[in-house]
Amino acid sequence: MDLTLSSTAPEAVETPLMAVLVASDRPFEQPAGFDEHFGGVLGAAAALGDFHGRRGDRVAGRRRGMDGPLRVLYLGVGESTSLTPETVRCAAGEAVRFAERLRLPSLALSLVHLGPRIEARHVQAAAEGTVLAAWRFDDLKSGAGPGAGADSADGDGRSPLVRSAEITGAPPHAWDEAVRLGRAFANAENLARTLQATPGNLATPSRLADEAVRIAEESGLKCDVLGPAEIERQGMGALLSVARGSDEEPRFIVLEHRGADSGAAPLVLVGKGLTFDAGGISIKPARGMEKMKYDMSGGAAVLGAMRAIGELDLPVNVKAVVPSSENLLNGSATKPGDVVRSRQGKTIEVINTDAEGRLILADALDYALGWEPAAIVDCATLTGACVVALGHHRAALLGNDEELLGELRDAGDLAAEPCWPLPLDEEYRKQLRSEVADLKNVGGRPAGTITAACFLSEFVGQTPWAHLDIAGTAYGKTKKPYLRNGPAGRPCRLLLEWVRARAGV
Ligand code: BES
Ligand code: MN
Ligand code: ZN
Repeated sequence: MDLTLSSTAPEAVETPLMAVLVASDRPFEQPAGFDEHFGGVLGAAAALGDFHGRRGDRVAGRRRGMDGPLRVLYLGVGESTSLTPETVRCAAGEAVRFAERLRLPSLALSLVHLGPRIEARHVQAAAEGTVLAAWRFDDLKSGAGPGAGADSADGDGRSPLVRSAEITGAPPHAWDEAVRLGRAFANAENLARTLQATPGNLATPSRLADEAVRIAEESGLKCDVLGPAEIERQGMGALLSVARGSDEEPRFIVLEHRGADSGAAPLVLVGKGLTFDAGGISIKPARGMEKMKYDMSGGAAVLGAMRAIGELDLPVNVKAVVPSSENLLNGSATKPGDVVRSRQGKTIEVINTDAEGRLILADALDYALGWEPAAIVDCATLTGACVVALGHHRAALLGNDEELLGELRDAGDLAAEPCWPLPLDEEYRKQLRSEVADLKNVGGRPAGTITAACFLSEFVGQTPWAHLDIAGTAYGKTKKPYLRNGPAGRPCRLLLEWVRARAGV
């Protein structure tokens, strides 16, 4: 979607649809004469008590004059004094859904009725909601399936996209930066969603690496891709122990953004890039296994975030690592009880081959330590236990540095991709003791998300590090107007808000 910003007054914009955000505590007729252009539809609804400007209130109308917007959609957002970015994001999403239903190719958005309380974070959220809502994944539809031509937005077949949007009435230059950030963050998250949605036969580790190379070229990043020989040379026995059960070769993807001087310690993002998780010899049940194409969601969010970081040229050094493999089961697959040697030298007894994410991340975290990072943040669809603990709303947040954890909490709240802390006490670590190796890869049923994070913590030394378990939040059924069922791209915007805050932008 093509999103632009203009200072044209909303009543003068030539558009098939003008979506107007209205607060409950502001007079509805602002700016003067605007509503008359549409036959006074808002005034009439307000007089009848049908529209109060509360969240969810809506009125639509069509123009009476010869020019200006053809249609209007008033969207209530509640009190302007307590307006959150998420409310604006949702309203922008509703506007796009409305345009979609009418098959309109474009729309415009007005925030000027909200008055002087509008801040950069609201404008950014409007841009994000618009761009996120327009995303769809129909590359693999030929249009010949059952239900083709169905007209619902999520119906089968290809329905036309809302191709462009304009945020109108901007005070000159004041909103430029907010729109630039919102657009880049949302495009990054949409890229993550597309990578997530791509099925395992198409998004193999080598294709994911090709995609990383393309992203790097587009956004001015440095990219290195290690293949099996180099991974072996690096001594990444944990990653290799997962990859050996599949005919698809693993890849170890490294991206770098240089935004500050070369001496400054980098931030490091690590994402699990498991392109399909069948569980290995400890095979998963068939029901729902197709969802395990999403097991590269962490990697997708990191690749998306890196594209925006490069594109925006944020003034900070950021490096990213995405270890990528399949977890299948052939005759050479790792077996329960096998002991493997990680890059760091620690030996691991593989009790359950389905706990593969922590294995590939162990080698990635150790690799990252070589850069002496200022902080490492990893994200991974790591444990089913996380879905049980926190459901689909909040990601689990664990780590060894309270300040870093606080920063990530704040970033998640701002992005409306919230997370919640779980403890990492020494006591839990005991569950990982092995009789034959330095540690084992599972800690039993109790506290599954915590023991998985304990495992990772063994590989980060003293570096400030945080882990986001996104098993419940990266994809699923969603009711948010700016998302669709399926991949959510989370926590791409959380990572970006964190990096942006660290960069001081
Ligand atoms: N990718 C899964 C975790 C997962 C489960 C993600 C459900 C999304 C939804 C991970 O590799 C896995 O299989 N974890 C095991 C660990 C267990 C064997 C200790 C799990 O959670 O069952
Ligand atoms: Mn698994
Ligand atoms: Zn997995």
